[in-house]
This record gives sequence, structure tokens and C-alpha cells, in this order.
Amino acid sequence: MKNRIKYCIANLKMNLGTQSDIMKYFSNLNNCDISTNESVGIIISPPFTTLSQSIALSEVSKAHLEIAAQNVNDHDSGAFTGEVSVEMLKDYGIGYVIVGHSERRAYFNETNDQINKKNKNLIKNNMCPIFCVGETLEQRNNALIEKTLKNQIIKGLDKLGAKEIILAYEPVWAIGTGQTATSEIITEAHQMIRNILNDIGFDGQKISILYGGSVNRNNAKELIALADVDGFLIGGASLDANHFYDIYKFIEESV
Ligand code: PGA
Repeated sequence: MKNRIKYCIANLKMNLGTQSDIMKYFSNLNNCDISTNESVGIIISPPFTTLSQSIALSEVSKAHLEIAAQNVNDHDSGAFTGEVSVEMLKDYGIGYVIVGHSERRAYFNETNDQINKKNKNLIKNNMCPIFCVGETLEQRNNALIEKTLKNQIIKGLDKLGAKEIILAYEPVWAIGTGQTATSEIITEAHQMIRNILNDIGFDGQKISILYGGSVNRNNAKELIALADVDGFLIGGASLDANHFYDIYKFIEESV
């Protein structure tokens, strides 16, 4: 297994999903002159409607950009109206998929069991899950952080054959709220996650663990300086290519 590298990942969510939006976004990224740096992986995760165009745009981009899907179904094929399978994404040339985002857990009732199947199918197809975990405010207030992370990680990664995976610690209360977790909270959680990974047979030191939750260009420099933070999964601040680029620069400077 490779040593861990840093990542700067844009989760565009249900935004910038028209052809003209995404064209403008990639053109703005190119104007920012995001350079290729082998030690920082840059991944853009647009809505499904612009995946194909995003792949084409990433191929002509000056930077080495990877494209991720925001979701995948846990079944291989069948009568699942509106859903998309791992095979379909692989055929598209997608190498990364966000799995277990808290918005999917909360609004679409995604279970640990489904998340486990998604992770497993992706790994089997040599694709890399960007696996999100994190506690709600209620769980934090009830001292259930470690229990929650353990439950999500152990169930989500149970019986996974290979170990090429990216973890994202995203406390639910910090997502889209402007309430970024403190350095202490992030350090404690990332260390917990590495220990849990070690306990279940992964090499926690070799898995990149990103932080996500109201990351912006004002707090990125301080957060990337934390030893256990291997980059960011960025929602709101990634919608503006210039802000995303500023955050990327902080990551690049930290390696
Ligand atoms: P945010 O979202 O940066 O807007 O908080 C992060 C995420 O949901 O991945």
C-alpha cells in the first residue's frame, strides 16, 4: 500500500450542474493556474449531469484533476429507477466516489450496510471510495463520538478486501454551518479514526484522513498544519474556483 498523500477535494453537491456552469468552473480553475503536484491529489466531484463533461474538461486542463461521483448505488444492476451502478461509473472513467456523506445518511436514509456494499463494490472494481464519517451534535454532546466513529468505520469497512481508500472526518454539525471544528477536536477525531483503522486490520498511518466541515480560505492554513490532517473535503467554499484554489495552495505549501 502506498504512503498517504494529501488531497484537495471539491464536493459541488447539487450545484454547478449545467453545462455552462461547469465549463465556467473549469475555465476559472485553469485561470487560477492550479499546477500539477504529485503530492496533492485534486479531485472535483460534480453532479451526475456534468460528469462526462467534467472528465473531458479535466483531460484538457493544465492540472492533473481527477473526477469523483457523489454517490453510487449498492446493487450491481436491476430495477432501481433513477440509480447509477459502480460498473456505469467505471465505464465513464470515474476513479473516485464519495460514500456515506452525512447528507445521504440523513436525507436518503443510507445505512451502514449499504455503505459497506458500496465501499466493497468500488474496491473490487479498483475504484477509490472517499468514505465519510462523523458525529452529529447530539452524539457529541452525549459523549458518543468514539462509539459513533467506531460503528460507522467498522460496519462501513467490514470484510473489505483491498485497502485503497480515503477517509473524510466530517462532523455533521460543522457541515455548511460556518462552525468549523477546532484543531483539538479534529486532532482527537483523526487520531481516534487511525486507531480504529489499526484495530480492524488497516494501516491507519497509510490512509489519508481528510477533514470536512466549513473549510474555507481563512481557516485552511491553520487546519492543514495539523499533523493528522491530510487535506480537505470542501463543500460551500469549493463552489468558487478562486476560493478552492486558495485552499489548494495552502495544502500544496504544507507538503
Ligand atoms: P461544507 O461541506 O464545506 O459546505 O461544510 C462539506 C461537505 O459536505 O463535504
